[in-house]
Amino acid sequence: MTDVSQVDTLFQFLALAKRNLSPGAWDYLMGGSETETTLNRNRRALDSLAFRPRVLCDVEHIDTGTTLLGQKLKLPIVLAPIGSMQDIIAEGGVVPTRAAARAGVIHMLSSVCAPGAEEVSRAADYPKFFQLYVRGDNKWVDDTIANALACGYRAICLTVDRAYYGRRERDIAKGHLPVSRKGAASESFQAAFTWRDVERIRGNVELPLVLKGIATAEDAEFAVEKGIDGIYVSNHGGRQLDHSQGSIEVLPEIVSAVGGRAEIIVDGGILRGTDVIKALALGATAVGIGRLQGIALGAGGENAVVRMLEILDNEIRRAMGLLGVTKISDLDASHLARAEPLARNWLDSAFPLVSEGYGAAASEIDDLSLALPR
Ligand SMILES: Cc1cc2nc3c(=O)[nH]c(=O)nc-3n(C[C@H](O)[C@H](O)[C@H](O)COP(=O)(O)O)c2cc1C
Repeated sequence: MTDVSQVDTLFQFLALAKRNLSPGAWDYLMGGSETETTLNRNRRALDSLAFRPRVLCDVEHIDTGTTLLGQKLKLPIVLAPIGSMQDIIAEGGVVPTRAAARAGVIHMLSSVCAPGAEEVSRAADYPKFFQLYVRGDNKWVDDTIANALACGYRAICLTVDRAYYGRRERDIAKGHLPVSRKGAASESFQAAFTWRDVERIRGNVELPLVLKGIATAEDAEFAVEKGIDGIYVSNHGGRQLDHSQGSIEVLPEIVSAVGGRAEIIVDGGILRGTDVIKALALGATAVGIGRLQGIALGAGGENAVVRMLEILDNEIRRAMGLLGVTKISDLDASHLARAEPLARNWLDSAFPLVSEGYGAAASEIDDLSLALPR
């Protein structure tokens, strides 16, 4: 596994991951559905926000800690569920869960991520969440949730933006079938899943229940009425319905509809500490990280995910200090203004140095060391 102790910037993980992953796994990780408009809009929505910093505020001591659905976090970050993780790293879900335990964040395990709920729960003793795709009848759903709860997962998340699997054209063109889709159960269970099922599950589960893939105020309102504890605003990282709005664009209407009755997680295009801060300033409790987690996993496994979180922590602290806030609860919409986004594709918008040729090879890592304080 690559030594990532010298990696001091997030973009350096890209070259390492691209070198380590097969072309099929790389495209599976990085791609979106159809025209990849949603994928690009996630970044564009983030880029359409600028900061309004306040100065002379005594920002010597900064606290990035928060609480999400009853769990204390050192950073307001969830390692988002990733299925078919074995395509990226052979050991699968045990790796991010160990990294999350070390870094003080939450890992949300996908139900289609090997080696499964039991083994992943044994890998690290700390609170973690379980995300479910419906791949069977009511009994299958109830048994799977009961098993996750017995394994000690502290929240159950139902992903609801996957009634059908998005057309990921990079995979289709290459004939790449992600491992979790090989011999997968019929999609019809997921397609037939409705609010009635959510209500039934709510009646059976005492621990926090989260819906992932909420993208409108109407559905957020519905979810809160049904007693959902966590609204996970997401368009699946632009991998499902194409031509959707960017997640950060819909966040304000959802925050307003929820009105504090549930906690809000948001994901989609979060690749930098400043992205995390924008989401929190708009009212999210925490953000989910999908591709950046996969990139770090591919670059160097557990240590790389921990390092990625350390660098994010550093970016978040600096940006908070420069904004004039010392704790997350100080962040609000007064720290943001609308801005014209620069015309760049989604990856360039987060990591512009890559297109200038930086980080093209792992051997350059020493030269690129930017003396990040450890
Ligand atoms: C390779 C990959 C696999 C994913 N698998 C799942 C999954 O099994 N369940 C799920 O709810 N979301 C899944 N997602 C979506 C992520 O949980 C998350 O919503 C998305 O990646 C966030 O956008 P970002 O990649 O721009 O951070 C997956 C995303 C990626 C990139």
